[in-house]
Order: sequence, then C-alpha cells, then structure tokens
Amino acid sequence: MKNTVVVGAQWGDEGKAKITDLLAEYADVIIRYQGGCNAGHTVVVNNETYKFHLIPSGVLYKDKFCFIGAGTVIHPETFLKETEDLKKRGVDLSGLKISPLATVTLPYHIDIDGISENTSGKNKIGTTKKGIGPTYSDKTGRYGIKVQDLFDKELLESRLDAILPLKNKILEKVYESKTYSKEEMLNYCEKYAEIFKPYICNEWIDKLSGFLKEDKKILFEGAQGIMLDIDYGTYPYVTSSSPIGGGAATGSGIGPTYIKNVIGVAKAYITRVGEGPFITELTDKTGETIRNIGGEFGTTTGRPRRCGWFDAVLSRYCTLVGGLTEMAITKIDVFNDFEEIKICTAYKDKRDGKIYKDYPTNINLHKYLEPVYETHKGWKTDISGAKSMEDLPQNAKNYLKRLEELIGIPIKIISVGPDREQTIILENPFK
Ligand code: GDP
Ligand code: IMO
Ligand code: MG
Repeated sequence: MKNTVVVGAQWGDEGKAKITDLLAEYADVIIRYQGGCNAGHTVVVNNETYKFHLIPSGVLYKDKFCFIGAGTVIHPETFLKETEDLKKRGVDLSGLKISPLATVTLPYHIDIDGISENTSGKNKIGTTKKGIGPTYSDKTGRYGIKVQDLFDKELLESRLDAILPLKNKILEKVYESKTYSKEEMLNYCEKYAEIFKPYICNEWIDKLSGFLKEDKKILFEGAQGIMLDIDYGTYPYVTSSSPIGGGAATGSGIGPTYIKNVIGVAKAYITRVGEGPFITELTDKTGETIRNIGGEFGTTTGRPRRCGWFDAVLSRYCTLVGGLTEMAITKIDVFNDFEEIKICTAYKDKRDGKIYKDYPTNINLHKYLEPVYETHKGWKTDISGAKSMEDLPQNAKNYLKRLEELIGIPIKIISVGPDREQTIILENPFK
C-alpha cells in the first residue's frame, strides 16, 4: 500500500498541482478531497499551462480515475467552464468522476460571500469570493444541497422547501440582497444536473472498495494549505475546509488506515493571499523581488501574493497537524540571483524577549512577534535545469539540508521550475 496525500504546508499556492501532476503518472487514482473553486492549481507541461480549480491535477494523464470527493464543494458554472475549456484543449475527461455526496455551491452562496467581504471593511477575510464559506456553513448547518439531490426531484423539492424560506429571509433582511424562488432554483438545479450527469459516480463505493482490494495506487490532492485549515489555521483568516492530511480521509471516502505517505509541499520562501497574520512577511524591496521573480500573483483572483522568508516554526507546526511524512520544496530557483537567503527559526516577543520555538496559535499575539533569522549564502547560479542533487551548487544543497534539519522530516522532491520536467525526485512514493 503506497497511497499518498499531497498537501499544502503553508498558506496555499505552494505548487501542489505541479507535484500532484508529477506523481499522477505513477498513480491509478487521483482524488481531490476538499475545497472548491477557490483553488487555483497550475500545471505546466512542455510550455503548455493548465489552470485547474475543481478538477484533479492528474486529469492530463489518460486512463486515470480522477475523483472529486465528498469533502469538496462544487460550483456548477465553474465546473462547466473548466470541463468545456479542457475538452476544447483535447483533454480526455472520460476518467473524471464526481462524488454524489459533494456539496453544491449555489448562486446565493456566491452573493453572500461577496456581500460579506464588501461590507466587512477592515474585518474582511480576503476570501476568493467563490462562495466557499457560505457553502460549507450550509453543509455543516445541514442546509446544503448535495450533488445527488439534483437527480431526485422529490428530494430536491423537499430540500428547497426546507432551505429557501429561511435563506430568503436572511438574504433579504440581513444581506439586503436578491432572493431566489423555488422555481428559479429548481430550474438551475435541473440545468446543472444535466451537466453533472456524465460525471456523477453513484457506484463510488464499489469503485473505491475495488481499488483498495486491488491495491491500486491512490494519490490524494489537497487544495489550499494547512495554515488555512478551519481548525488549525490562522482562524478566522482561513478557508472553511480541512486541507490537512486527515482531510484526505474524511473528504475522499477512504479511511486513514489506507494512507501511507503525506507529502507537505512548501515553497523555499512563503506566500499568502488575503488577510491574516504572517510573521515573516517582507513588505520591503526583497518581498517585491520575490513576488516578481516568483510570479506571485493569484491563479484564481490575480491578487498579488504577500511574500516572506521561509518560516521553519510554521513548518514544524504543519508537520505535526498535517501528519506530514516528507516534504517537497518548490520554487528554489526563485533565489538564483540572491546574495543571501534567510530562514526563520524562532519568534521573539518584542515586549519581553520571550522566544517561541513552537507556533503560537493565538493570532492576537502575532503582532508582538518578530522572526529570529539565520542567514544563508545564495548560490548565484541558474539551477532551473538541475536534474539531480549533484547538479545543485553546494550553497543550494546547504540551504535544503538546513530546511530539512529544521522541519525534522526528509525532503524527497525538489522543484526547480514550473515545468513537469524541472524536478528532482529523490524518492518517489509510488516506486
Ligand atoms: P498550487 O495552488 O499549490 O497548485 O500552486 P499555484 O499553481 O497556485 O502556484 C504555484 C505557481 O508556481 C504556479 O504558477 C506554478 O507554475 C509555479 N511553480 C511551481 N513550481 C515551481 C518551481 O519550482 N519554480 C518556479 N519558478 N515556479 C514554480
Ligand atoms: P490553492 O489550492 C491560496 C485563501 C483566500 C483567503 C482565505 C479564505 O490554489 O492553494 P476562501 O475563498 O477559501 O473562503 O478564502 O483562503 N485561499 C487561498 N489562498 N491558495 C488557495 O488555494 C486558496 N484558497 C483560498 O485568499 O485568504
Ligand atoms: Mg493555487
């Protein structure tokens, strides 16, 4: 059993899709287990760029079972657009399947997300406005619509009867927003049931049991990152799902006893989009240089990403709560021209000098904390063509070795450029 989870081990956009795509070649099944179209996952193959939001990043290989699991939220319009765009580009979607238990993002979820963000002033979260929080709130509040509900008119009508009266009151009275009639919602759901029809996998229990029995190789693709996790992230500046390793079990329908490895993907530095604390953030010229060289602009929203030095305190925390067994370090090539590179090894309280080696989860404290850095020499060499460890200059090797020591788990994949080929795989979990 070699089943492997790929999770973001920072605040998202770590290069998970690149790593998923790379490993998908060796897997039989790829499962996206949480999140929705807030994700923006980029895969580059031979200079061709693909941007996925809902669809698993393994879809570029033929003959793989690509499953969108129960832990996800699916926005029908985005799903339609994404599948249409991929089909136009000649991508074979015959292996793409959706769990009937995934939750549907409805138009009012998007309305509420937008209005909440636009009216919250300095208290906004900086969401992607894709309706993620409102959809997950409805799911856990038991006001959600599941994909399977769209195919059962009687059930759908009874769900809408249960949901719409209260939802419309809230939309009208609290959000001063448009309301939705039952007929309008029925039409909407009917239209998208047709779109989902070729993809829905009602036989998912049989399929997944079969894969486990046959010891097929299963790759789980996380979205967002551990620091955006609803329980363990920088709450409330988080997303509304569970990107941690454990989320792969709840979100896919395959229990934790069937998971062997959890690969944490982290950049050689760190970025964040949206609001929330970020102790190693660089608001100076160096931050800008990282942003420009690293192309740090959101895949989903185009927003500039906040950039900072690698934070080993945060990585150790992610290793624990994410259940990480190993790391993939990406974008190390962004430092090709840097004289010096810093790593944060601890935090210091500006008020009394107290040192924190473990991540303090009370984010109110973060404004008093400053990073304690150690400085490493850059390598001033273009490493984007490196194929093995031997091709890396000594200073790059030293930097990676130090990251490994500080995080406490082995680095098994090093990414030196966006393309599938620009990767050093020290150990492949499926081989
Ligand atoms: P994800 O959300 O974790 O899948 O990451 P995104 O796709 O949002 O952002 C990662 C960006 O970095 C994408 O534009 C990738 O093409 C790019 N990328 C991934 N790995 C590397 C790398 O090693 N070096 C460079 N320069 N770019 C990379
Ligand atoms: P991928 O999968 C980076 C951030 C948003 C915001 C917070 C909540 O590409 O790594 P949401 O719309 O989820 O309610 O927003 O989470 N966020 C991401 N940041 N990468 C992502 O996905 C993200 N998905 C959500 O910017 O701060
Ligand atoms: Mg992304």
